[in-house]
Amino acid sequence: MSDNIWEKNGWTPERLGSLEGKTYVITGANAGAGFEATKVFLSKGAEVVMLNRSEEKSEAAILELKKQFGENAKVSFIKMDLAELSSVRKAAEVVIKKVPKIDTLICNAAIAQVAKQQLTSAGFESQLGINHYGHFLLINLLFERVEETGKRIVIVGSNGYKSGLKAIQFDDMNFDKNYTAMSSYCHSKLAQMVFAYELQHRIKAAKKDVDVFVCHPGASRTSLAKEEASFTTNLILTILSYTPMAQSAEKGSWPEVMCATEDNLKQQAYYGPTKRMDMVGPIGECQLEPHVLDREVADKLWKLSENETDCKWHL
Ligand SMILES: NC(=O)c1ccc[n+]([C@@H]2O[C@H](COP(=O)([O-])OP(=O)(O)OC[C@H]3O[C@@H](n4cnc5c(N)ncnc54)[C@H](OP(=O)(O)O)[C@@H]3O)[C@@H](O)[C@H]2O)c1
Repeated sequence: MSDNIWEKNGWTPERLGSLEGKTYVITGANAGAGFEATKVFLSKGAEVVMLNRSEEKSEAAILELKKQFGENAKVSFIKMDLAELSSVRKAAEVVIKKVPKIDTLICNAAIAQVAKQQLTSAGFESQLGINHYGHFLLINLLFERVEETGKRIVIVGSNGYKSGLKAIQFDDMNFDKNYTAMSSYCHSKLAQMVFAYELQHRIKAAKKDVDVFVCHPGASRTSLAKEEASFTTNLILTILSYTPMAQSAEKGSWPEVMCATEDNLKQQAYYGPTKRMDMVGPIGECQLEPHVLDREVADKLWKLSENETDCKWHL
């Protein structure tokens, strides 16, 4: 059961006024939902700093954005590979130096459906390493800047959190024994969301003034899984993407834009499309399953993530 909080049509960018003077820092913005979200921000006069892995794709994206929004469009790119903790640290340093104000930090980048188990150079299962550990470290490094200037973090999750194991597999985080493309992807998105809701708790307990919002794009026609998935998975996803169970990348970006900009959103909530099993349709609040809010699991994951990424939170 879903709850649509913005009337029949759900949230749309039509609700947005001018975003002049706002700065959005977003990971994985050279394609898919992140790229579409960037277009919405630029169309309203905001500045966007993209943290992307591929230089080539980022330059092409900026060219396209400047063609659409003019040479003076405030969009730039800092190279960051979430798979490499050293790259995340370096990118965060550049952000701290060059981006004095972060209105919202949007953790959007991801890889998905990696056909065969792959490890990052730090030895993490690749989806867990990129989607969760990379963002865990990035948020830690930029938290103070966000707290001082913008007070908002958005985590782009996935309905996958309620598929697969529905549990953090602490005794085999890399899926050495039971790897499948689907369950390892779902595991990484569950980890991101478990962390996000725990971050909300800890921020509140520390009496800090930062909001963390969690959303998902439903099923959107993006480049997700195109490079990493097996031929069969790609075929199935491509066929599905042209059925009424999927929507455009543009619509897929709206939940993250909403979470980056809208007042009166709730903590411990999950925002995204609300029709056809929350895959498409009006953007509103989706039902959140309780396994993602287990604080014992969250605490264990938090400590593990601090150890693995060699960072310490003061929360
Ligand atoms: N599309 C869907 O149906 C769907 C469903 C549920 C959830 N989601 C979530 O929605 C978010 C956006 O995904 P999307 O569908 O828009 O996918 P997408 O089109 O593949 O875009 C993903 C972005 O992440 C970047 N990225 C990948 N690996 C990276 C790394 N190691 N370091 C830095 N950036 C990296 C990619 O850029 P490079 O190629 O330059 O690395 C790209 O810009 C993700 O969090 C995904 O899990 C999507």
